[in-house]
Amino acid sequence: MNRIAVVPGDGIGTEVITQGLRVLSALAPDIETEHFDLGAERYLRDGTTMPPDVMRRFGSEFSAVLLGALGDPRVPSNVHAKDILLGSRFELDLYINFRPCRLLDARYCPLKDRVESDVDFVVFRENTEGLYTGVGGQFKRGTADEVAMEQEINTRKGVERIIRAAFVWARENGRKKVCMSDKANAMRHGHDLWQRVFKLVAGEYPEIAASHLYVDVLAMRLVQAPQDFEVIVTNNLFGDIITDIGAALQGGIGLAASGNLNPGKAALFEPVHGSAPDIAGKGIANPLASVLTVGMLLAYLGRPELERRVQGAVQRCLKAGQVTRELGGTLSTREATDAVLEAL
Ligand code: NAD
Ligand code: IPM
Ligand code: MN
Repeated sequence: MNRIAVVPGDGIGTEVITQGLRVLSALAPDIETEHFDLGAERYLRDGTTMPPDVMRRFGSEFSAVLLGALGDPRVPSNVHAKDILLGSRFELDLYINFRPCRLLDARYCPLKDRVESDVDFVVFRENTEGLYTGVGGQFKRGTADEVAMEQEINTRKGVERIIRAAFVWARENGRKKVCMSDKANAMRHGHDLWQRVFKLVAGEYPEIAASHLYVDVLAMRLVQAPQDFEVIVTNNLFGDIITDIGAALQGGIGLAASGNLNPGKAALFEPVHGSAPDIAGKGIANPLASVLTVGMLLAYLGRPELERRVQGAVQRCLKAGQVTRELGGTLSTREATDAVLEAL
């Protein structure tokens, strides 16, 4: 099965996915795509967020889903993004949010005197529980006595499988270090579970150095010494924040790719960035995160050599300064993709 479901989504999501698909069809013309009209426009038109039959089809009829971004100022509740994006992560049980952070050209690193090998780590972000489940409630809403609760869910199964995924990947990819990050000094119940499970799983991988940092210190160390990190595993919310720091270290959010995975079951690939309403419709969004995401998708479909070609082409464009404005270039979204296609 080589069929991809495509959800361009909102804002620059649609702009960058159009460009990512040009690269996909250039490298793998045999892959079929089916577009899904889901996002803010659709929601505003007919109230649909995520039809149940589409969710079922995502899980059974496609090799993977490719998603742009969801988020629109006209939908302040973000209900469609919750149903489509978080809904897919939860209902397809995509427990691994795989977010590599790799500096392809040192000049784009915001830290001074850095070389490319200084930023080369992968974050395994737990993707199905934590503070993202919506479990909680509001009481006396809108009054002076209002109470709002957001419950953090940490299950033994959920914590163990993401920690194990990090170690398995480290072993399979010749990495020697896994760092787990939590806030067990303040969050005594859930993060104590992370501490205990991490020690247990780490014991099964004696050749890999297992370390721990509280997430505040991790944020600091990523900026001071990114070269110390190879694989990081953390919970859903901390992973969200840490991977935006990681994106900045790589050269910006316009370069960061991700995969939402449940090995052997389903997968959803997306750039880390959002719909960027501030630049949407101007044709200036950086398409490279989307292009690298397509590379990741190709590797997932069993064509790792195509991902290496995509990364090489993107790296050549970065080195030649053939980039969009936020990276100091002059190219439009389409022109930056033309440059990648030429480099390919
Ligand atoms: P954002 O990532 O959309 O934008 C943050 C900043 O980065 C903006 O200044 C934007 O212009 C810039 N930026 C982002 N992507 C870029 C690109 N490819 N090229 C150049 N510049 C880029 O984050 P935000 O502004 O917090 O969120 C906007 C909306 O997107 C919100 O509704 C948010 O919830 C949503 N969002 C969705 C996803 C997703 O669907 N995966 C991810 C993050 C945010
Ligand atoms: C991301 C995004 C999402 C998240 C939002 C849009 C819910 O920021 O994929 O990083 O927090 O997971
Ligand atoms: Mn995020």
